Amino acid sequence: SAENIDAYFDCVLGLTKIAGELIREKVKAGVKVNTKDCDIDLVTETDQEVEKLLINGLKTNFPSHKFIGEETVASGQKCELSNSPTWVIDPIDGTMNFVHAFPHCCISVALFIDAAPVIGIIYNPTLEQLFTAKKGQGAYLNGEKIHVSKVATMNKALLMMENGTSREPERVKTVFANHQILIPKLHGTRTLGSAALNMAMVAMGAADAYFEFGIHIWDIGAGEILITEAGGVVIDPVGGPLDRCSRRVLCASTNDLAVEFTKCLQQYYPMPRD
Ligand code: IPD
Repeated sequence: SAENIDAYFDCVLGLTKIAGELIREKVKAGVKVNTKDCDIDLVTETDQEVEKLLINGLKTNFPSHKFIGEETVASGQKCELSNSPTWVIDPIDGTMNFVHAFPHCCISVALFIDAAPVIGIIYNPTLEQLFTAKKGQGAYLNGEKIHVSKVATMNKALLMMENGTSREPERVKTVFANHQILIPKLHGTRTLGSAALNMAMVAMGAADAYFEFGIHIWDIGAGEILITEAGGVVIDPVGGPLDRCSRRVLCASTNDLAVEFTKCLQQYYPMPRD
């Protein structure tokens, strides 16, 4: 019910603010870095600490809820998206930025019910940008309503795009190919280093599109509802509905713009599903 959603939202927002304070302190103090899949796939103790803080806090309040967290999955837990209420958590999206004190990392947390997001929070504690969305209630930045842009053609579009954290040669080739294909067709490209913040830029109309191959459900869960509540579209890069565990995403301000991208993107498929 709507009342439950409000209670879930208030609880997760409180925890997110506490976690944000922790991130701010660690950025000041400097962080110790470990690596995961390859030497540019970074993780820090703070990623793990923030995830624990959120999961423990939510579990205490909502004991029947399930969790998919980036660091819990990294430590071996299966990523299972069922119809039960499930919190999908990226404790620090943009860990590379966090490590460098580049001021664009965030906590990204979404509540999924029936395998679709109903709450999304993206919080950049360094720049104090709090993006929030609840299903059917619009999208907000620091309490003010946000909307996607009206851009409908690539020749007017600013695209968020990432190089990704894989050095797998075929993946890297696709990234370069897409730079070559897209740059001449666009107004420009930008890279924030955080999938969630890239999506937030589309939601607030500061950019017009974003796509990536290789992302995980925790990178895009909150971004999906933020963009759709802001009036935009989130689909599969080849066209058709988003497959949330497929490691692929395309977002745009308008459907026309999304369709134009699906026609010229070089696609990439060979990734294990979440
Ligand atoms: C990464 C960031 C990055 C994107 C990668 C993600 P992490 O998340 O969102 O922008 O290119 O695909 O894995 O590892 O910093 O949480």
